[in-house]
Amino acid sequence: MEKKLENQVAIITGASSGIGEACAKGLAEAGASVVVNYPVPAAKPMADDVVNAITSAGNTAISYQCDVSKEDEVIKMFTDTIAKFGTVDILINNAGLQRDSPFVDMSLEKWNYVLSVNLTGQFLCAREAIREFLKRGVDEKRSKAAGKIICMSSVHEVIPWAGHANYAASKGGIMLMMKTIAQEYAFKKIRINSIAPGAIQTPINKDAWDTSAHLQNLLKLIPEKRIGQPEDIAKAAVWLASDDSDYVNGTTLFVDGGMTLYPGFVDNG
Ligand code: BGC
Repeated sequence: MEKKLENQVAIITGASSGIGEACAKGLAEAGASVVVNYPVPAAKPMADDVVNAITSAGNTAISYQCDVSKEDEVIKMFTDTIAKFGTVDILINNAGLQRDSPFVDMSLEKWNYVLSVNLTGQFLCAREAIREFLKRGVDEKRSKAAGKIICMSSVHEVIPWAGHANYAASKGGIMLMMKTIAQEYAFKKIRINSIAPGAIQTPINKDAWDTSAHLQNLLKLIPEKRIGQPEDIAKAAVWLASDDSDYVNGTTLFVDGGMTLYPGFVDNG
């Protein structure tokens, strides 16, 4: 495989499982040295498994614990990464979670928790990344860009989702944060884009695919009639992180098997 991300350093948040894990493996295979971030000590074994898979394939990775909603921890993760690898070229702003509830029963705690990880976490990591990109500037040996950020959004940045107001609000927030900072720093050759995954088969949505009845129900929402795989997202992330997408900035790439095509209108309306 062509090493499109050779000599580059990437931090992938929430990389101990699911989409983050696949992105870490994909970017490492494309030549980047990757920081496999995980949130709490209990996730260390999983993060270390991801690191082992990457290093045994001859690529470079370390695991790193950091709760992305904590400012001091995020600053330390960037400082330590820069001390170890020299700089940061790519941030995959991936860490995210769901705490679902009917709106009228949603506690302030649940609301704040989801917003603090999904949205504030992306703000804190993007801010540290951009600070480093500005300090270093463009180094043509690494990339045409001074740095790249890929925000993991969701089809729910545009599709309302009953029972998930905190999650949908966080993803809608990511959309305009991403576009705003892309507008703010494009002139510095910093590229910031989002990926909006549809239903990807990971632990976060296990309830939607764990039985064939659930899966059949889910597939009604997906014109391609298959559930996505984490690798579908990783391939898009590698492209957005590489110079192949050098003229792509401030956009959301939907990787959703057509979920945002309003499939209910195929035989209605
Ligand atoms: C959610 C999943 C859901 C998918 C499609 C994602 O952002 O995390 O739980 O299956 O959107 O609705």
